[in-house]
Amino acid sequence: MSKALSAPEGVTWKSRWTFILAATGSAVGLGNIWKFPYITGEYGGGAFVLVYLACILMIGIPVMIAEVMLGRAGRSDPADSMAKLAKESGRSRYWGVIGGVGMLAGLLIMMFYSVVAGWALEYVSQSIGGTYSNLDPAQIESNFSGLLASNSQQLLWHSVFCVLTAGVVAAGVTQGIGKAVDILMPMLFFFLLLLVGYSAVNGDFEAGLHFMFDTDFSRLNGEAILVAMGHAFFTLSLGMGAIMAYGAYFPGHSSIGKTVMTIAALDTIIALLAGMAMFPLVFANDLTPGQGPGLMFVTLPIAFSNMSGGIFFGTLFFTLVSIAALSSSISLIEPGVAWLEKHGVKRPVSTFGLAGIAWLGGIASIHYESVFNALDYLTANVMLPLGGLLIAVFVGWLMPSDRVLDETGILHAKVFKAWRFLLRYIAPLGIIAVFLHSLGLLGWLMRH
Ligand code: TRP
Repeated sequence: MSKALSAPEGVTWKSRWTFILAATGSAVGLGNIWKFPYITGEYGGGAFVLVYLACILMIGIPVMIAEVMLGRAGRSDPADSMAKLAKESGRSRYWGVIGGVGMLAGLLIMMFYSVVAGWALEYVSQSIGGTYSNLDPAQIESNFSGLLASNSQQLLWHSVFCVLTAGVVAAGVTQGIGKAVDILMPMLFFFLLLLVGYSAVNGDFEAGLHFMFDTDFSRLNGEAILVAMGHAFFTLSLGMGAIMAYGAYFPGHSSIGKTVMTIAALDTIIALLAGMAMFPLVFANDLTPGQGPGLMFVTLPIAFSNMSGGIFFGTLFFTLVSIAALSSSISLIEPGVAWLEKHGVKRPVSTFGLAGIAWLGGIASIHYESVFNALDYLTANVMLPLGGLLIAVFVGWLMPSDRVLDETGILHAKVFKAWRFLLRYIAPLGIIAVFLHSLGLLGWLMRH
């Protein structure tokens, strides 16, 4: 580990492994377990999954390497890191604005994320109480609708989740965040495997796999492609500086490439496992795959209600999901907190201030489904890809390539070249093409 580099206030993760855990903690969350299965259900399965995987590989991973690199090279909050590096490269300081907009995006995401995390907490409590353990699938479905209809119930858990998030962030990065994820991520992984096993035995596993992996492109439209790409950003926590903020604490000078591949692989595997746990149960119980945000909260209780030891497993599973959500939500406000800290605001004050704003926004998304949907759509499908586009252009085109080579620590010339090619051409053009396509402009251009 090189001592020459110093992080903000000299804070670094204990090791590269802690960085992997923390970044994985940020990446793996409701996006994998709640959102991926339900949007896969809504947008028709296999073809959607394929586009999502392609976006992870060709856009997500290259942008993630760029973000970690920017964070480590800048050693500061996202806005400051980017401004600093832009100036060094002879560009306008205003590139720092990307970091600033990213912090805003994080808050906006938190405004619906914490509501869904609240649902998970409610299901911890329902699992403990055995609320759904004697219900049939139809009743389990209406049980979830009941939660959506109860603003006070949602408000309670949403508030609890905001306080938990603020508490961990206030405790500081290495103390609060680093420790929480060490044991819990492997546990979550183990439990997902268990559920997939249950689904394989008790669900319609074949139908589930066909749905997820048969590619029927007729079901793919511009919107589906946009959502698949947006989700690649969302699930890897890209485009708003979260990974950049964590990169600022990346110790030493080791290579970023392998680390990022590990994180992306873990994230993708967990999403696919979540889908494989849920869809077989969808088909075995005559539920609709495209039922929307309730998918996880309906399918999994059906599994737990039929399982021996279901109360125990259900409680443990929803607890793990809540913790996965927590290790993600902290990365939604950490960039803003780091920025305010730099400008003289004490960490506890800025943390609770930002969490408070997110809490207020969350109340709006509890009361108005349209607010909930708009926040989700705007952040994942517009703000994050746009942030990713600018980051790709900045690192790919505006930073001197020898500096980039030095900062990424990628040793193999071929790997570096391939990455740079993806970052300079494929990622920006891909993002622009998907934007144009979803606006219907690409088809128009091609016809003229
Ligand atoms: N990746 C997280 C998930 O899948 C959500 C998340 C955390 C996120 N931090 C982020 C998304 C930053 C975008 C940007 O649940």
